[in-house]
Amino acid sequence: MDVRAKLAQMFQEVIDPSDQYALREPVIQKEYLVNGELREWQGDFLEVRSPICEKKGDHFERKRIGAFPQLTEKEAQEALQAAVDAYQNGCGVWPTMTVEERIECVEQFLFEMLEAKQFIVTMIMWEIGKSVDDAVTEFDRTVAYIRDTIEALKELDRQSSRFVKESGIMAQIRRAPFGVVLCMGPFNYPLNETFTTLIPALIMGNVIVFKPPKLGVLLYQPLLKAFQKAFPAGVVNTVYGRGAKVVGPLMETGRIDSLAFIGTSKVADVLKHQHPKPHRLKCILGLDAKNPAIIMEDADMDLAVRESLLGTLSFNGQRCTAIKMLFVHQSIAPEFIQRLSAGIREMNIGMPWEPEVKITPLPENNKTADLTKLVEDALRHGAQVVNEFGGTVKETFFYPAVLFPVNEHMKAYQVEQFGPVIPIVPFSEIETPLHYIIESNFGQQVSIFCRDPYRIATLVDQLVNQVCRVNINSQCQRGPDILPFNGRKDSAEGTLSVSDALRAFTIRTLVAAKENNTNKEIIRTILKDDLSSFISTDFIL
Ligand code: G3H
Repeated sequence: MDVRAKLAQMFQEVIDPSDQYALREPVIQKEYLVNGELREWQGDFLEVRSPICEKKGDHFERKRIGAFPQLTEKEAQEALQAAVDAYQNGCGVWPTMTVEERIECVEQFLFEMLEAKQFIVTMIMWEIGKSVDDAVTEFDRTVAYIRDTIEALKELDRQSSRFVKESGIMAQIRRAPFGVVLCMGPFNYPLNETFTTLIPALIMGNVIVFKPPKLGVLLYQPLLKAFQKAFPAGVVNTVYGRGAKVVGPLMETGRIDSLAFIGTSKVADVLKHQHPKPHRLKCILGLDAKNPAIIMEDADMDLAVRESLLGTLSFNGQRCTAIKMLFVHQSIAPEFIQRLSAGIREMNIGMPWEPEVKITPLPENNKTADLTKLVEDALRHGAQVVNEFGGTVKETFFYPAVLFPVNEHMKAYQVEQFGPVIPIVPFSEIETPLHYIIESNFGQQVSIFCRDPYRIATLVDQLVNQVCRVNINSQCQRGPDILPFNGRKDSAEGTLSVSDALRAFTIRTLVAAKENNTNKEIIRTILKDDLSSFISTDFIL
């Protein structure tokens, strides 16, 4: 691809995907969902601007693509009250429904969600600049996640549909919900990562207050109706607006039982401290990460370059699992850099709807300026941008920059860049990357590129006690979603996977009785006459 020409014409042409992903007019989200009602908002709205810019005379502007309600504390408290009422201290319709009935509701929701696929994919592209392929993948992966969650719940329920008898005690053990879950997902996977907590929390009998991410809000428009149709009133409630205004006050009430938050550890700390009852609040958090890749001198170069490109630049490096630091053995560093730079040059850049596009405009405000500062800081401390066009900015577009040699004095060494900047540290002793990982505040994943099984084995044994996933000759990633996803230190709290998420939003709860004739008769009657949804041996077929 002719990068120079492509950069020169970035945003110059009239925006027109001229296909099914065109956005004909702004999406004005007027309603929010509280207590089963779609209430029309009469107050102020927050404007949504796309990372895609358009030419206005002699300058460029981020295209205005819609607006959503800027709710106040009052509406947020109403949403919380609706959730509390629906939960009814665990006696509400939703928490006492049978598992099969809850599954039916989620299936109905899924049906409605599938109907909205084209709209949601289009909005993912326009709101956060994700390429069409990745936006479709995000949608499909979320659908698969919901289906897998339903199957995992059936299995969990089957395991719980029997009594345990031990030392003269008979007991039935199930997983019971926490209560009100506040769900907040990240902008980079606004649908998928939100639903990987919201759906498991919901299907297990919790009720939800849900705030869409700061970017990636409008895509939820059709889903409000779907929530309304599929679930009893008050089971899912939405709050829109500025986090500090609408979320802080909810935490301060102490009535949130569980916080499901994917975002920065800084925000998570604020939210947790706002809650007056730290032991009541159960947190499932997916936070910061700076996953390193260690490229040893015997690495398969083609493979290491290919996986490094995927790891550092998929969705412009805006993945919590992205490889954000490369340690490359100094003996192969020149060749690696040359091949990595050539690989970047081959990547298509442009608008999200362009075929095979890999690098697209960035949605966060001031992001290109922040990345430029990161690069300038590295240059001041002795690094160079070693790839052609690296760091070139066109409005919201930032051409990937490979920084070399990076050292501990640079911000790029310490902070999570969450964007297309690739810091490379040369090393001669393996202690250099190991020391980095040990000293880091993050502890999510690492990738090792090496052919020698003996060295891999030694490294694995050292690294598994520092991070939660060691990838061998493969980029860092979350999926497949049946695998545990978590992190040490500031990177996470709790573990998510299809089955782990069902556990994360529930607590093992049991009914126990001494094994005597009276108790046996009581339990027999409860079972025979189907008197309880907890004490039940019904088996989901
Ligand atoms: O942003 C964090 C995501 O969970 C990453 O998921 O590794 O499958 O892209 P992924």
